[in-house]
Amino acid sequence: MNEHNTSGVGKNRAPLYEALLAYRDSKQRSFHVPGHKNGQVYYQWMQSFEGAGDDLQKGIGGERNSVVTDYDLKGTAPFNHVVPVRAYLDMMEMDVTEITGTDDLHHPEGVIKEAQDLAADCFGAEESFFLVGGSTAGNLSLLLTICDEPGSIVLVQRNVHKSVIHGLMLAGARAVFLEPWVDPESGLAVMPSIETVQAAVQRYPEAKGVFVTLPNYYGMGADLTPIAEICHEAGMPLLVDEAHGAHYGQHPELPVSALSCGADGVVQSTHKMLAAFTMGAMLHIQGPRLNRSLLRQRLAMVQSSSPSYPVMASLDLSRRLLHVHGADAFTAGLAAVKAFKRGLAELPRFQLLQPADSLQQEPAYGHENPAAMPGRQGYTAQDPFKVVIYDDTGVLSGYGLQQQLEACGCVPEMSDERYVVLLFSLGSTLQDAEHVLQALRHINVAYKLEHSLESKVSVRTDSQTQIDPPNYVSTWNNIEEHERLSEPVAFSLQPILEKDMIGVSIEDCAGYRSAEMVIPYPPGIPLVYPGERISPKVAERIRVLREVGAKFQGISDHTYQKLKVMKPES
Ligand SMILES: Cc1ncc(COP(=O)(O)O)c(C=O)c1O
Repeated sequence: MNEHNTSGVGKNRAPLYEALLAYRDSKQRSFHVPGHKNGQVYYQWMQSFEGAGDDLQKGIGGERNSVVTDYDLKGTAPFNHVVPVRAYLDMMEMDVTEITGTDDLHHPEGVIKEAQDLAADCFGAEESFFLVGGSTAGNLSLLLTICDEPGSIVLVQRNVHKSVIHGLMLAGARAVFLEPWVDPESGLAVMPSIETVQAAVQRYPEAKGVFVTLPNYYGMGADLTPIAEICHEAGMPLLVDEAHGAHYGQHPELPVSALSCGADGVVQSTHKMLAAFTMGAMLHIQGPRLNRSLLRQRLAMVQSSSPSYPVMASLDLSRRLLHVHGADAFTAGLAAVKAFKRGLAELPRFQLLQPADSLQQEPAYGHENPAAMPGRQGYTAQDPFKVVIYDDTGVLSGYGLQQQLEACGCVPEMSDERYVVLLFSLGSTLQDAEHVLQALRHINVAYKLEHSLESKVSVRTDSQTQIDPPNYVSTWNNIEEHERLSEPVAFSLQPILEKDMIGVSIEDCAGYRSAEMVIPYPPGIPLVYPGERISPKVAERIRVLREVGAKFQGISDHTYQKLKVMKPES
């Protein structure tokens, strides 16, 4: 990494964040948006209440930052009905917009340009773009860039986040879906195999690009380099939804980044695995295969003209932390993970998802030699921060284990029928590790009393039905009949009219074409998209997921009893 980026600003600076601090400290009078006027509207309300006290009254104007005490006056009506807590007001003082000195995300020339250049340097991109609408905005923009004419063909991994499907709809694209490779051990889908990508680019040489997701929600992945090479030989860009891998490549124990494998456009949710505010994400670009001026236009279309400066500054801060501390930024978080794994080894009931050759070894991360693992070429790297556990006795499903962990004060990232994903990060501590270990020890004892370890019989809790581990399929998977490539599927924004739909029970929906998207959430991977014919297997899957208590987006019936489908053509 360079000491200075192309703007000449040192990596230990955070130009955008510093601009917000300067704005706050300048005490200029605001005759511009936002209407809360640096939070002044609430300070005025405080003043208008009798007995607000000198401290609070001094809060209006220059001294407020240093003088106002914490006034979260819970229960002291009417104050608490209108005035937010101190932390919120402090943030409003930095909630600036495009004024002199704060630059413009859609035409960056000043502090935003400097911050983005520093990000490009830190993450190894030629150019980086800040996203204030999460990876969602990045996925939409990338698809709208490569699909430069109606009906453009894109080669897309089938199990993608809904934002990718939405991008295809917005672009009026035709998607050839690529079957992901499924890890036989865990049953979890990773990205498409090299052979699948090769077959796709050969059959559709006119395709505008290849779009894959790596790592998956469980932190599983493999080396992308051969796929990037295939794409480039075919003259296509490789686009990667690396929403879950913003930290990749930043520490020797972390898997390599998609950019370093040669991807042309990479989207990362900085807010997920690094330290940005929610919605803070980045799009990184390299090479000649993406039309960057079109990309800028597309970003301007899908992103607000009033992007949140606190969100953008949090991207700047997140980058600075990595840039200044390098791999050391992850030392404490990795120590927490290792402590957790050591403790977990003493609880054999709870097993850990890992690539086959690295089971329970220390260190168990990073990049094994794919050649050494025939049959596991799609899963050779595991994100150490995504700790995926399961109850090997089968007593608790993933959903059940999540419930128990939450009852012990530990909130996992997500669960499915079998697994619970515990998300550690550079912010995790040894205390966090100990807390969740304590919880698992407690759950182990509590459930051992009722169910023998050997029984492998699922218990039924309020929201669970019996799960037979061999039949396990994750909510992440949405593949079924092992068609390596689909025919091109046309996407558009053409709505399906109410008059053309009927509601049918989930039990009877097989054979119909769906009129709505069915999206188990998390992880947000559509099982069915509008217009797609519902196979008996998928209908059964929706039913089972409903029974085990999964949540869905897209289904208009909130009880999940019925699905809107297209009236059969007469
Ligand atoms: C694989 C994947 N891609 C994209 C997204 C969208 O990311 P964001 O929430 O940052 O918009 C998600 C969200 O969970 C995701 O899991």
